[in-house]
Amino acid sequence: MFDLTPYNTFGLQVSSTAGYVISSKSDLRHITDADVLILGQGSDILLTEDIEGMVLIDNIKFCEISDEDDCYVVKVGGGNILDELIAKLVDLGISGLENLSAIPGTMGAAPVQNIGAYGVEIGKYIEDVECFNLISREVEHFSHEQCQFGYRTSYFKEHKEHKLFIMEVTLKLPKGFHPVLSYQGIREQEFASPKALRSKVVELRKQKLPDPKEIGNAGSFFKNPTVDAQTYQKLKARFPDLPAYPNAEGSYKLAAGWLIDRAGCRGITHGKAGTWEQQALVLVNRGGAKPHEIVALARYVRAEVQHMFDLALEPEVRIFGSHGEISWEQL
Ligand code: EPU
Repeated sequence: MFDLTPYNTFGLQVSSTAGYVISSKSDLRHITDADVLILGQGSDILLTEDIEGMVLIDNIKFCEISDEDDCYVVKVGGGNILDELIAKLVDLGISGLENLSAIPGTMGAAPVQNIGAYGVEIGKYIEDVECFNLISREVEHFSHEQCQFGYRTSYFKEHKEHKLFIMEVTLKLPKGFHPVLSYQGIREQEFASPKALRSKVVELRKQKLPDPKEIGNAGSFFKNPTVDAQTYQKLKARFPDLPAYPNAEGSYKLAAGWLIDRAGCRGITHGKAGTWEQQALVLVNRGGAKPHEIVALARYVRAEVQHMFDLALEPEVRIFGSHGEISWEQL
């Protein structure tokens, strides 16, 4: 048995039949089974039961920075902790990723979800992703276009059947400091350096989001739902203070945290699971929660939002059962 408690930030006590920590690209040559679950820090997943099978932990750590004419090219192992990389980059005065500060997770996981915060998504800076295909046992490269980045999604998330282990990510970070300051909290403020902006983002996240080292959680549990203009207008008439962000194609992104809050689910506790007091979109393990308690709470929150707004929230976290990834409907 392989204990997965340290490899899921919800801190749920689950295990798998076997597990290997992959520390170098060559370690992958010894893995002959393609029917595996690949994890980094496990910061965006919900493990609903013990895993029947092998888990591979991406722990490939290296970082090479080269100074090109107009940009820095940064090659990092999939096991590097994203936030440690950002700290290192801002210390060197290299900018681009500071809005993503303090997001838990590894570099290998970052492109899968195309993680984002405060108006920046990592995909914007990804040039190439190098994977080991566990089925064909070949190394494969994905260009920025081939990664097919979308809101919290990518080729890797849509094609999990391909069993791609992300070994290396290449980032291209333009020189100069061009901060993205469109988001509330950092808007209309001046930052002298990438380091100063990073400090502010860290402070903002600390106010709103629980640190998984102290309170088990997986960040936003649900995605912000997108609705068409007509649905938005109807909701806006009923709830004049509804926060919404217009999308380019005329639809609107709504704030799931607000919907959950308004449905009366902020700061609630069910058994040992709960929703975070400062951000209702984050489900937390209040200590010793079992997977089924998180699942029951997620179902309850979803039902309350459905009842009040007639909207179905979709999970942002990836959900795994004993035999692999499952959809909300299969739960
Ligand atoms: N709100 C409430 N009550 C709540 C929570 C939020 O009224 O309990 C309101 C806020 O006041 C705000 C709006 O809802 O008007 C949006 O909330 P917030 O600004 O906290 O951002 P979010 O849309 O909930 C997204 C990402 C976060 C990311 C932040 C910052 C998703 C699903 N979530 O949250 O990402 O950190 O923006 O950019 O896209 C994650 O993916 O795990 C994650 C934490």
